[in-house]
Amino acid sequence: MIHDSPSDQDDKSESDETGEAQDSGTLRHRRIRSFVTRAGRVSTGQRRALDEFGPRFVMPFTPQPLDWDAAFGRTAPRVLEIGFGMGATTAEIASARPADDFLGIEVHEPGVGALLKLIGEQELTNIRVVQHDAVEVLEHMIAPDSLDGVHIYFPDPWHKARHHKRRLIQPKFVALLVSRLKPGGYIHLATDWQNYAEQMLEVLSAKPALENTVGSDYAPRPDYRPVTKFERRGLKLGHGVWDLVFKHR
Ligand SMILES: C[S@@+](CC[C@H](N)C(=O)[O-])C[C@H]1O[C@@H](n2cnc3c(N)ncnc32)[C@H](O)[C@@H]1O
Repeated sequence: MIHDSPSDQDDKSESDETGEAQDSGTLRHRRIRSFVTRAGRVSTGQRRALDEFGPRFVMPFTPQPLDWDAAFGRTAPRVLEIGFGMGATTAEIASARPADDFLGIEVHEPGVGALLKLIGEQELTNIRVVQHDAVEVLEHMIAPDSLDGVHIYFPDPWHKARHHKRRLIQPKFVALLVSRLKPGGYIHLATDWQNYAEQMLEVLSAKPALENTVGSDYAPRPDYRPVTKFERRGLKLGHGVWDLVFKHR
């Protein structure tokens, strides 16, 4: 295992397990989320980057579609990345693809600070960040038929079977993703957890609006996705990594 699931460190309460919460005596349904809110310490450098670069590069969550042209100051292909972690991959891809604009979503504040630090150090202008649940961002801030690509790298695998319902890549979520993609737009996923890779392949292959770019199998890692340090360590230990690249027909 290369990436840990937060679920395996702190187990969930019964109400979290069922996705229901007791609220003033009434039972209301709450969405089962793909992440747990972690306190996580923000380092001095990350705090400085949040203060210095946040106002320019962090887009507040709003329930209205984002105006990408206004946010980036140009019109360019639009790629959404979900759960960028500490942002190293995001920065590397954005630097290698200066003609494309990248909107990164992450809930974890130290990660947002880390990516802003890279943006500042490398003077990257084609990344914007939203610190919010990606499901709500997709539902409210991303217009239908507007994305040229979606990247989701090493999403939390939620190892335990009873937590699989927290996995991001499920039919309903993929339907939401597809609705936001332009025809011809792509979804690129990667995971180091075989059982999740199989689920990803099954869910994406079952969607008639999507076409697997490599027939019916996993894809070779596209050149633009760098090998992360976690991945390199895992590969040395003989672990596998699976990429999937599908296109909206
Ligand atoms: C295992 S990490 C992988 C990070 C990074 N993509 C990488 O390859 O190293 C998964 C990340 O997704 C974030 N995440 C999970 N669900 C999310 C959601 N619904 N919205 C935004 N971020 C989410 C988590 O906070 C975590 O940082």
